[in-house]
Amino acid sequence: MRVCVLGGTGNISSPMVRLLMEVGHEVTVFNRGQAPGLPPGVRLLRGDRSDRPAFEAAIQNEHFDAAIDMICFNAEDAASTIRAFRKVRHLVFCSTVCTYGVQYDWLPASEDHPLRPISDYGRNKVAAERVFLEAFYRDGFPVTIIRPSTTFGPRWNLLRQIAWEAAWVDRVRKGKPIAVCGDGRAFHQWLYVDDAAPAFVFPLGRDRCVGQTYNMMKQEFGTWADYHRTAMSVIGRTVEMVGVPLATLLAAGVPNVGICETIFSYSTIYTPNRLMRDVPEFRPQISLEDGMRRVLESMEREHRIPDSDKEDWEDRLIAAQRAVGEIKLTPAP
Ligand SMILES: NC(=O)c1ccc[n+]([C@@H]2O[C@H](COP(=O)([O-])OP(=O)(O)OC[C@H]3O[C@@H](n4cnc5c(N)ncnc54)[C@H](OP(=O)(O)O)[C@@H]3O)[C@@H](O)[C@H]2O)c1
Repeated sequence: MRVCVLGGTGNISSPMVRLLMEVGHEVTVFNRGQAPGLPPGVRLLRGDRSDRPAFEAAIQNEHFDAAIDMICFNAEDAASTIRAFRKVRHLVFCSTVCTYGVQYDWLPASEDHPLRPISDYGRNKVAAERVFLEAFYRDGFPVTIIRPSTTFGPRWNLLRQIAWEAAWVDRVRKGKPIAVCGDGRAFHQWLYVDDAAPAFVFPLGRDRCVGQTYNMMKQEFGTWADYHRTAMSVIGRTVEMVGVPLATLLAAGVPNVGICETIFSYSTIYTPNRLMRDVPEFRPQISLEDGMRRVLESMEREHRIPDSDKEDWEDRLIAAQRAVGEIKLTPAP
């Protein structure tokens, strides 16, 4: 099939584009051309989707059988994608589990769980999903919605629970303690990007996937405290973890704490059973440890590990927490 990927050089979409080529599709990526290193044979259609008239005209001039939209973040983007790809036989839209919010009626959450997003990101993805589903039910627009949970890879830095930042890797190397949120017991699921690619590639052209919404994550889950213990074994040094309540992290103004506030401080467990039923090729195989090792290698290769001595917020936070008493963390299993 002639497949267009909106994005295509990102964290999730890079391995997806490689897999599309491997299974024999003719692949075009639409992006601004800022990332180097497209795989041989992939065609670049350069453009900015935020210029909607130009984007839609560029796509309408082409002939694609299918498309994957990795950069749709709101209802207006979704409506624009539908206008651009009105002739495709199948379109996969990348949504997010942030559509569910953090208050669950049952766990693991399945696709029919109520959506109660708490962030603008989640609310806007819900609005985009509604535009696509309305087009499906009203006009038969052939959409499939994928809701990934945390999907990590070498284009990112090694995640941590309390913030979007990478200097913690250097803290571990230097033997400094690190902060985690609360008692470290919040559950989470981590999927490596190579394992995600089949979830986007194999639904294409598969009738039973049209009109469906799928969670995408590993079935297995763990606590953030265990996540950090695993990361320490990969980094090669064990340091103390100090539990800090979310309210303190927020009051202390931890830089880039938003990811913790809106999702990583909560126990979030979802089921990918529906995806595994309809897309049996989706069978995650890469362990958390192996995935972390690959991310760490890319951070080292690209000199992306910041020097933790250049900032002191975490030392101050940990000292303040110790002064009022420590939260007891769950022991290692
Ligand atoms: N990773 C996760 O844990 C997770 C979880 C849930 C949902 N998601 C969803 O996954 C998607 C992100 O996928 P990804 O990781 O492959 O993306 P990414 O790493 O954010 O990369 C973005 C891609 O889109 C292109 N791009 C960005 N802005 C553009 C624009 N205005 N016009 C044209 N191209 C543009 C970029 O290339 P240029 O810069 O060259 O344009 C690049 O190819 C998002 O929809 C996100 O909501 C991710």
